[in-house]
Amino acid sequence: MNNFTFYSPTEFVFGRSTENQVGDLCVKHGAKRVMIVYGGGSVVRSGLLDRVKAALTSVGIEFVEMGGVQPNPIDTKVREGLKLAKDFAPDFLLAVGGGSVIDTTKAMAVGYYYDGDFWDLYEMVNCKKKATASKALPLGVVLTIPAAGSEGSGNSVITNTTTHVKVGIRYPMILRPKFAVMNPELTMTLPEWQTASGVSDMMAHILERYLSNTPDVQIGDRLAEGMLMAIMECAEKVITNPQDYEARANIMWSATVAHNDTCSIGRVEDWNSHAMEHEISAEYDVTHGAGLAVIFPAFLQYAAKHNPGKVAQLAHRVLGIADSGDASADAMAGALALKKWFSEKLHMPVTFAQLGIENPNLELLNTRLHNLKGEVLHGYMDLDAAATMEIYKQAL
Ligand code: NZQ
Ligand code: ZN
Repeated sequence: MNNFTFYSPTEFVFGRSTENQVGDLCVKHGAKRVMIVYGGGSVVRSGLLDRVKAALTSVGIEFVEMGGVQPNPIDTKVREGLKLAKDFAPDFLLAVGGGSVIDTTKAMAVGYYYDGDFWDLYEMVNCKKKATASKALPLGVVLTIPAAGSEGSGNSVITNTTTHVKVGIRYPMILRPKFAVMNPELTMTLPEWQTASGVSDMMAHILERYLSNTPDVQIGDRLAEGMLMAIMECAEKVITNPQDYEARANIMWSATVAHNDTCSIGRVEDWNSHAMEHEISAEYDVTHGAGLAVIFPAFLQYAAKHNPGKVAQLAHRVLGIADSGDASADAMAGALALKKWFSEKLHMPVTFAQLGIENPNLELLNTRLHNLKGEVLHGYMDLDAAATMEIYKQAL
């Protein structure tokens, strides 16, 4: 196991009706002037936004609000938020929604203290960030969808509408939320597509950490395998019965633990499937988790041929494949079993065509990918342009 630092200071408040505590939590974390950020309207329709505002009012907190954050959040919305924030001067930001809302809020949190355009903090120049942040406004979250895990992560992913670059920042020391309110009941209004995309995303977050060449990381491996098994069991229940509170609760907490770095301690991570998917959702504006259901099985099929060890272990321990003694064959069987499960149990697309992209411009995606990440993507496997193109083609 490698040396590591794990700093995860978020206060998680989990369970039925917990959103009513948001006013007290803001006070506890020092907020007096709050800017609320939300999405395209689901929190208005469900009444959640009104309950959050009532909770803030009841403890004497002043607030402004900005709605309209779209899935695959964009730079222009961050700038709109920053303008409002500069006028209002909040001392705390409150994201009410999912990963897109939280990531927009995080971009505002670091952008608020940055003198130039916030995008400098995201932009890659020669495979390095153009600028770095050292300070952020504190933020809290009321989560409505288990998926991105942004409620417990120090990450934020934003798309540049001019260049179509979708890229993340990672600041665990300053960008992890101060608190995250998580009521599984709030997720019962999710359409099946969003529920399933969220499941696909959280599984990918675990697998990106699982696919590592770092030896002797049994604790991370076993955590990852157990979580994958629990997610698959509960996801099937939720797809069958969306009102199953206990299954919803298990799924919701899994999404957080999948991405708050618990499973990645002491090991080198991968993240190349995510980089490949981000090119797809940046160009075609598809749901991130659905894009991963297309890319991940193709990635695992490639790994089965070039570095089968961990994929075979996954196949044996999680996906019900008997050990034949041929790691490559077992890894391939595991990759195909996962693809089948995504398709049959989650009703997710597993090809570009099923994702609604009949003729993807793979040259464009692949060129942008390597422009952003470099000639070779390092990780569980070293992937040059020919390798990533083979994976994209496998997903056709
Ligand atoms: O916008 P509203 O109207 O709220 O509707 C949203 C949106 O259309 C809807 N929704 C959310 N909660 C709902 C609901 N509808 C009904 N009932 C509810 N309770 O769901 C749609 C998707 O929301 P979004 O926030 O986009 O989902 P998600 O949490 O999957 O976030 C996806 C974004 O996060 C990024 C992805 O790339 C994508 O841009 N990621 C962020 C990460 C991070 N910060 O650590 C890591 C991930 O790998 C990922 O890249
Ligand atoms: Zn993801």
